[in-house]
Amino acid sequence: MSLVSKLKFKGRDIVAIEDFSREEINYILNISHSMEPFAAKGSDMLKGKILASLFFEPSTRTRLSFEAAMLKLGGSTIGFAEAEIASVRKGENLADTIRTVENYADIIALRHPLEGAAKLAAEFSKIPILNAGSGAEEHPTQALMDLYTLQKEKGKIDGLKIALVGDLRYGRTVHSLAYGLSLYNIELSLISPESLRMRPEVIRAIRNKISIVEDANLEKIISKIDVLYVTRIQKERFPDPAEYAKVKGIYRIDLKTLKSAKKDLIILHPLPRVDEIAAEVDSTPQARYFQQVWNGIVVRMGLLALVLGAVE
Ligand code: CP
Repeated sequence: MSLVSKLKFKGRDIVAIEDFSREEINYILNISHSMEPFAAKGSDMLKGKILASLFFEPSTRTRLSFEAAMLKLGGSTIGFAEAEIASVRKGENLADTIRTVENYADIIALRHPLEGAAKLAAEFSKIPILNAGSGAEEHPTQALMDLYTLQKEKGKIDGLKIALVGDLRYGRTVHSLAYGLSLYNIELSLISPESLRMRPEVIRAIRNKISIVEDANLEKIISKIDVLYVTRIQKERFPDPAEYAKVKGIYRIDLKTLKSAKKDLIILHPLPRVDEIAAEVDSTPQARYFQQVWNGIVVRMGLLALVLGAVE
């Protein structure tokens, strides 16, 4: 590759977005961009390497895009997509699972319902751990693809006015994204009902770095923003179903919502969606969530190539 850097990624875990500087994130975005042709025509730069995808929670995009990324770079994949078929069902703990799988693979993508699971796995593992979602805590590779999407769609990240909307308490993607965005010169609106406000530790970490407004009312800010990042209310993470019932369907983006929006607003969503973006929005020029899905594969190709040392 022609991009050469003093930054070191080979052998690193990708556990939390806070572990990365702005310079490092920009470098990952540049390398990811260089993967676009390989996402289309393939490459053998990771020939002989094996990705283990260990998914203890459901996933469509993250697991399949990690696996597709590895295949497109000439490597192979092993793994499981539900804990029920793995030996955790017999009582095996995560540390033993990791110490076993490290004998079979060169890198592990791990999704787990418990916060801290990826960090724990990284402490035990001799091979790099890619956090593919740890409970309601973090989803760093999603944040990297979200930042890549902003860069690609808007040509820049600095200067953007961005609203994160929906479940900011249980939605892990918005936690990682907020940490990542705090490294740029942006204005952030956090739109959620009171009960789903952004986690306090995230606010504490970012409030002195960027301008933040917290509100429940999307209408107040819709005309001012450049990016509307919508999230699903995470039904499965509510301890009390009655609390979920109070906020179910609270935000729904439809053509009426977009009437006062900027013409060049872009709408992102980590997906899956339930009912928070109406299907009628899909055909508008603002809808970019399926382009965002494509960006997931190039960013995960970039990460695999960097962490496995195929590019520097
Ligand atoms: N965005 C995301 O994490 O999607 P999946 O749950 O389908 O992997």
